[in-house]
Amino acid sequence: MTERVVLAYSGGLDTSVAIGWIGEATGAEVIAVAVDVGQGGEDLETIRQRALDCGAVEAYVADARDEFAAEYCMPALQANALYMNAYPLVSAVSRPVITKHLVTAAKKFGATTVAHGCTGKGNDQVRFEVGIQTLGPDLKCIAPVRDLALTREKAIDYAEKNNLPIATTKKNPYSIDQNVWGRAVETGYLEDIWNAPTKDVYDYTDDPTFSPAPDTAIITFKEGIPVAIDGQAVTPLEAIQIMNRRAGSQGVGRIDIVEDRLVGIKSREIYEAPGAMALIIAHQELENVTIEREQARFKKTVGQRWTELVYDGQWFSPLKKSLDAFILDTQKMVNGEIRLEMHGGRATVTGRRSETSLYDFNLATYDEGDTFDQSQARGFIELFGMSSKVASARDQRLGL
Ligand code: ARG
Repeated sequence: MTERVVLAYSGGLDTSVAIGWIGEATGAEVIAVAVDVGQGGEDLETIRQRALDCGAVEAYVADARDEFAAEYCMPALQANALYMNAYPLVSAVSRPVITKHLVTAAKKFGATTVAHGCTGKGNDQVRFEVGIQTLGPDLKCIAPVRDLALTREKAIDYAEKNNLPIATTKKNPYSIDQNVWGRAVETGYLEDIWNAPTKDVYDYTDDPTFSPAPDTAIITFKEGIPVAIDGQAVTPLEAIQIMNRRAGSQGVGRIDIVEDRLVGIKSREIYEAPGAMALIIAHQELENVTIEREQARFKKTVGQRWTELVYDGQWFSPLKKSLDAFILDTQKMVNGEIRLEMHGGRATVTGRRSETSLYDFNLATYDEGDTFDQSQARGFIELFGMSSKVASARDQRLGL
């Protein structure tokens, strides 16, 4: 029987050429799988048909938008996941859900190998292949760009020679990856890290310099998940989509960083994640109101570790799962509403209200009605500073 390869298919030039390229290099039949994670752009039926026209024996489209939002973006929100304090893991959270659908398709169509279009320099190859090894230990992996010497020039050549129904002229200077959680742009002009990003880099956000009148949203959270916006019930996918639009038109969520890749390279990345950033800012503040101090401090460390694991392609790892359990436990009381004002590229919390709040007005107030017994503070401070005081006395005795 002819071997079968499942290919992660985007509809673009490289993966369209990869269909025939893999066939010729390995003699295998290719099954194209396109996963909708809210990347927008072309209609998925058009993409499916193109795969068939490029020689795929089967083409399969999975609408994973709700699943991606609920099971991948929401955990990232609950973790307040910002890699290097800045990047909301846009591409990193999409790879595991795509991998899951690739492995399912491989089983369904009897494939022995899974192929993806990543290069050998990035994080995404690691995320795909570690995920595939974990979910389908019997499956092999190939990356035509990395392993079968498929370069851009060869791809254009191949598409033209074989009359593939794909444009070879419009050369985008950037490498772009996008989904509902955000958009990542790299390469080209941006590789000179002194170059400021030009206007054409952006798509999810409008220029914050010329933003319209301020927009105020009231976001209701239940156990750390947005469940309503301005009183209207929303699904996780809808919450992200609505905030993408509203925060995006205010220019919220533009990020420009040099980032540490897993493979040891520093790379310059431009991200746009208006919905993700607005939701994280709101969620973080609701946590400030509802999570007890020590739990909150520890959660920050856990969230950072979670973020690094997910960035490093360890979505399906045991440690990541254990941290999930901790994070989920912390979210039980993260209920309530946040008022978020968005304007000129910033999203600012201006109000919070919660039935599970730990904010006690009578303890906090400096006005009439204060229930806090201030006389107890003296003794507390005395004991709290005791160990430093003792150490300092010793040092002075020794003349240090
Ligand atoms: N550096 C980011 C990450 O590793 C984004 C990678 C996106 N890929 C792309 N082709 N632009 O998550």
